[in-house]
Amino acid sequence: MTAKIIDGKAIAAQIRQEAKNEVEVLKDRGVTPCLAAVLVGDVAASKVYVKNKRKACENIGIASVLHTPTAEISEPELLKLIDELNHDQAIHGILVQLPLPKHIDETKVIEAIDPSKDVDGFHPYNVGRLVIGLDTFRSCTPAGVQELLLRSGIDVAGQHVVIIGRSNIVGKPMANIVVQKQKGANATVTICHSRTRNLPEITRQADILISALGQPQFVKPDMVKQGAVVIDVGINRIDDPSSDKGYKLVGDVDFEPVSKVASAVTPVPGGVGPMTVAMLMVNTIKAARMLLK
Ligand code: GUN
Repeated sequence: MTAKIIDGKAIAAQIRQEAKNEVEVLKDRGVTPCLAAVLVGDVAASKVYVKNKRKACENIGIASVLHTPTAEISEPELLKLIDELNHDQAIHGILVQLPLPKHIDETKVIEAIDPSKDVDGFHPYNVGRLVIGLDTFRSCTPAGVQELLLRSGIDVAGQHVVIIGRSNIVGKPMANIVVQKQKGANATVTICHSRTRNLPEITRQADILISALGQPQFVKPDMVKQGAVVIDVGINRIDDPSSDKGYKLVGDVDFEPVSKVASAVTPVPGGVGPMTVAMLMVNTIKAARMLLK
């Protein structure tokens, strides 16, 4: 068997087109959605992510402003910047790119963001609403995975979804999204992590395996049930002297051999990555729309 390749790039482009149409409607009603991005310091991958997010904004007509404090910014100074953005009426969404420098407490920063502008869905208020099944801002990557499955015609209802990774950004919200009694959900969920015993035994039970642990090519074919759907959330840089950049991007899944076992699989790049950006656009529009109600 050769797996169907789920084209995240194409599905994300479709979502961005829908978002563009919604932005036009909002503009007709006098509101231009605006995202404030905060990029602290000089982390190469973070710079690329923020650049991609701002480019997506520009393409669909969302305004964006960028703040780039140096890695030396103090925690109180960063909290002050967030407070200013919270009070700025022209800004609908605030995105603080993670990770932050070691001397800054990420939790404090996330908790400082006004939950109604928390387009990343990281604030405990929004996470709590997600857990109890209320409408809220949801973390963009897991929300993107759900959308990818929905639009690929893969119904998770009643299926065993196994997630590798328990991060606050992906693993935990992913589990809470697909377990809900809602459309695109109703799954049976298992979360695995670094302390899980007999990991391959559990992953082999997955109808849908979602890998979000951040280790290059960790998922091998003997960890995957024949015919399972495999979603690769990992974006890992590995050395590649043959490339101009000196590195290449690979996922958490050993793509070639796994695609001989799975029924469908997402590639890296071009799978989940573009969905994260598309869902950020959706969340920013949602934040702007909330003002009209
Ligand atoms: N770092 C890794 N993923 C993300 C994300 O989705 N949002 C933010 N703000 N930082 C991240």
